[in-house]
Amino acid sequence: MEREDRRDVGVGNDGSDSGGDVGFYPVDQLEFVVLVIVVVLLVIVVLDDVGSGAAAYAMTQVATHNTSASCWAAVSGDVYDLTTWIGKHPGGSGVIKAMCGTDATSAFLGQHSGERRPVSELATFKIGTLAG
Ligand code: HEM
Repeated sequence: MEREDRRDVGVGNDGSDSGGDVGFYPVDQLEFVVLVIVVVLLVIVVLDDVGSGAAAYAMTQVATHNTSASCWAAVSGDVYDLTTWIGKHPGGSGVIKAMCGTDATSAFLGQHSGERRPVSELATFKIGTLAG
């Protein structure tokens, strides 16, 4: 009965609902729970995007990772973190270092276009796509 009574409060004599928070007493907790669930789902979606390389980076951002300590490169519209690959590349570290901070599409395709191993190896370093 208590709840029923609260619901009625604020409804004017003319029947109009004049109270913003009137009648929401039992709903507040439900809304809070729904809000928490939505926030948790959003966090999961965002973290999942980052993990699967769905983040978008501007070329200006890629360009700041232009050293062996942090080496990013764009190839065909995707962005790769090649830092750990520098010392492992069978074709030498120099060519990978030269890719750091650049759009290295032509360098990569010029050497490895259609080659199965380089293409699949490159895919493992993807961190996102090129924005714009
Ligand atoms: C992130 C980009 C690159 C990846 C993931 C990559 C990957 C690879 C892989 C997996 C191999 C060994 C292929 C095999 O034995 O079947 C290889 C070899 C080679 N790569 Fe790359 N590569 C990249 C960029 C480049 C670039 C930009 C150049 C030159 C401009 C280059 C030049 C070479 C050369 C010359 C070899 C042959 C090495 C040898 O067999 O003696 N690579 N690369």
